[in-house]
Amino acid sequence: MKQIIQVEIKTRRVEFAGCRTDMLVVGRFSDGTNEVIRTLDEKLGGAIDRLAKLGDFAGKPRTLAVLYGEGKIAAQRVMLVGLGERDKATLDTLRKAAATAANRAVDMMVKHLSLALHRSFDGILEPAAMGRAIAEGAYLGSYRYDEYVTQNGNGRLGALEAEIVDPDPAPLKSLTAGIRAGAIIGQAHSYARTVASRPANVVNPPVLAKEACDLARRLKTVSCTIFNEKQLEAKGMGGIAAVGSGSQSKPRLIVLKYTPAKKPAKGVPALALVGKAVTFDSGGISIKPAQDMDQMKLDKTGGIAVLATIRAVAELNLPLAVSGLIPSAENLPSGSSYRPGDIVTTYSGKTVEILNTDAEGRMILCDALAYAVEQKCGLVIDIATLTGACMVALGPYKAGLMSNDDDLVRQLEKAAEDSGESIWHMPLGDEYTEEMKSKIADLKNTGSRWGGACTAAAFLQQFVGDTKWAHLDIAGMDFLQKPTEYSTMGATGFGVRLLTTYLMNLVNQK
Ligand code: BES
Ligand code: MN
Ligand code: ZN
Repeated sequence: MKQIIQVEIKTRRVEFAGCRTDMLVVGRFSDGTNEVIRTLDEKLGGAIDRLAKLGDFAGKPRTLAVLYGEGKIAAQRVMLVGLGERDKATLDTLRKAAATAANRAVDMMVKHLSLALHRSFDGILEPAAMGRAIAEGAYLGSYRYDEYVTQNGNGRLGALEAEIVDPDPAPLKSLTAGIRAGAIIGQAHSYARTVASRPANVVNPPVLAKEACDLARRLKTVSCTIFNEKQLEAKGMGGIAAVGSGSQSKPRLIVLKYTPAKKPAKGVPALALVGKAVTFDSGGISIKPAQDMDQMKLDKTGGIAVLATIRAVAELNLPLAVSGLIPSAENLPSGSSYRPGDIVTTYSGKTVEILNTDAEGRMILCDALAYAVEQKCGLVIDIATLTGACMVALGPYKAGLMSNDDDLVRQLEKAAEDSGESIWHMPLGDEYTEEMKSKIADLKNTGSRWGGACTAAAFLQQFVGDTKWAHLDIAGMDFLQKPTEYSTMGATGFGVRLLTTYLMNLVNQK
C-alpha cells in the first residue's frame, strides 16, 4: 500500500534572487506589489510587471502564475500566489497560499519548494504564527489519498521538501519554532484525512480501536482503554450497544488519556473531547436513500478528529490533561438491529424512545458524554457529523456550534479564526429541549421536521448536566465535493486544527 507524501519543512537564510530551488513562491496582494517581487522582477527584466500589465496576474485571491528563472535568478521557477486585499489578510490567507503552492508543486512534480510568502505579511502577523500557518498549509496542500491506487503512470512525488527562505536572520528563529508546531499539527491533520478516507470494509469499530491503541503505544504520554461490546452492555451503555447491534463488527468505546509530562497549566480544567465514530451509517432499519450513501463512510470523522487531536496535543507536550472518548459503531440493518419503537436505557440511566434508527449519532454520543461527566471532566467538547439539518443551515462552509457556556463559545470562535476552520454559533433552548421529550420514555431520539441541528444538540445537552460543554456539528464539513486550489477533494480532517488551536490557546492564555 502506498504511503502518503512525506513533507519536510525548515528555514534557510538566503537572498531571494540567489535562492537555488525548483520553485520560489512569492505572495502578492491585489492592492500592491512588494519588495520581494520588485527584487525578482528587476533580475527577470520586468517579466512580472509585463504579466501584470497583460492582466494575467493581479494578486486576486485563488489565482496564481508561474514564471521561469531562465538563469537570471537561481530559482528554476517563480510562483506568484494571489493574496487578495491586504486589509482582509488573516493567518488563513497565508495558510491557504502555502497550501496552494504545495498543491501545485505536487501536481507539477516539483520536489523542492522555497516559500517567501511570509514577507507579504510583515507587520500584519507574528513570525511564529506565520511559521505555523505555512507549515500547516504545506501539509494541507500536498496531501493526496491514494493508498489503494495500484496503477498510476505518472509516479507522483514520494516526498516534498519545503523551506521558508529569508535573507534576514532576525525572524528565522521564531519562524522555526512556528514550523515545529505547524508540522505536528499538519501531520496529525493528514493522519486524520487518511484514516477517515479508508472505507468501511477496512475501518470498522474494532479496527479503529486498534488504530487508537497503536497510536497510544507510540505516544508515551497517552494511554488507551477499549470497552468491547460485552463490556459496553455490562456497563449499561445501551446507546452504543443498540446502534452497533445490527453489524457483525461489534461496537467499541475508545478511551484515550493524555497525561502531560509537565505540570498542567494553572486554572485549566481536565478536558474531554468526545467524537462520533460511526464507521458506516446506512441509517439502519430506517435506511437512507442509495444516493450518496457511500459518503457515510465519513460518519466516523468526529471521532477521528479527536484521535488526531490527542496525537497533536501529545506531540506538542501541551501542559493540560485531556481525554479522548470515541464511541464507535456501524449502523446497519439486520435481524439483530435496533428498531424504531425500541426503548433504550442509556449509560446515564435516562431512557430513549427510538423513532428513527438513522438518528444514531446522538445515541452513541449520549453514553460517552455521560461517561465524561462521570469521570469529572470539567469541560467537554463533542464533535460529530450529526445532522443533515446543520448542512442545510450552514452549507459546506461552517460547522455548527452549540454550547451552555458563553466563555467557551468565545474561545472556540477565536480558535476557529486562528485555525481557519470556521464555525457558527447556533441556539439551544427550552423549545428545542421540549421537542425531545417522549410520552413513554424520558426522551425520544428525533424532534419535529424543523430545526434538526438544534433539537439534536438539545438532546445531547440532557447528558452533560452543569458541566461546561460545547457541541460541534460538522456534517458537511467532513467532505470536500470538489477540489479547491489548496486541497484535493475527499476527507477534510475538519476539527483537528480547530481543537488543537483551542487547546494551545487555552494553555497560552493562563
Ligand atoms: N450521519 C448523519 C448526518 C449526516 C448527513 C452527515 C449527511 C453528513 C451528511 C446522521 O446520523 C443522520 O442520519 N442524521 C439524520 C437525523 C434525523 C433522522 C433526525 C438526518 O440528519 O437526517
Ligand atoms: Mn444517521
Ligand atoms: Zn450518522
